[in-house]
Amino acid sequence: MVCPFLCAQSSIQKKQITAVTGLFLILFVLGHLAGNLFIYLGHEAFNGYAQKLAGLRPGLYLVETVLLLIFLIHLYLTALLVWENRQARPVAYRQWQMIGEHSIASRLMPWTGTVIIAFVVWHLRDFTFADGDGPRSILSDGQSYGLYGVVYNAFADPWHSALYILAMAALGFHLSHGIQSFAQTLGFYHPRYTPLIRKMSNGLGLLIALAYSSIPAAVALGCLAVR
Ligand code: HEM
Repeated sequence: MVCPFLCAQSSIQKKQITAVTGLFLILFVLGHLAGNLFIYLGHEAFNGYAQKLAGLRPGLYLVETVLLLIFLIHLYLTALLVWENRQARPVAYRQWQMIGEHSIASRLMPWTGTVIIAFVVWHLRDFTFADGDGPRSILSDGQSYGLYGVVYNAFADPWHSALYILAMAALGFHLSHGIQSFAQTLGFYHPRYTPLIRKMSNGLGLLIALAYSSIPAAVALGCLAVR
């Protein structure tokens, strides 16, 4: 049984499992970003990539199920750790939080995490379960552009794009702390390299947020011509 097994772990082990599951999620985020950037090469490249992925089914169902399980374990353990921390030191925790040596990203982890969960649910409804040949795939010339058209139409709405960009900002913050936290939890600490890891982690979080946000921004600002 997965649940009693997870609950029985010590706090350190729970943190380690959270770190490792977080690493798999970061790898997914990077892979997904690489796939999404095909949008800059036009509808044929983007839809071709989506079709190649779809061609990997039924094997892909297994990968998706494992990814979902990893996501749920990450969420469950994080919530459990926060709850255990609060139970153990309700007053001290507040004081500890106020010391100020914790970055904004670290203090915002529960909030940015919640935004990401809400985003993923909305996002799946938006694109994964969208009809790739339906009315949402049709662009201004009256032709269907498949999944490319669905994404393009969604981001042509500035509010839709703005919400995506906000969610990407939350993701960037979450990752900027998550990556350095991963290193620390797994015991990488060095007076010389830890500040460097912190900088790289912040840089990577920012880069991922900017790269993802560039897509809704490019469509909403009319910089991505239909091709
Ligand atoms: C501009 C940003 C993004 C765009 C344009 C985008 C686009 C897409 C598209 C088109 C699909 C459907 C793929 C298909 O059915 O073949 C998809 C699926 C998905 N996206 Fe995104 N995505 C973005 C950001 C994100 C982010 C930041 C996350 C995670 C935090 C994410 C998580 C997912 C997941 C979990 C799926 C389902 C994967 C699957 O069906 O195998 N996406 N995305």
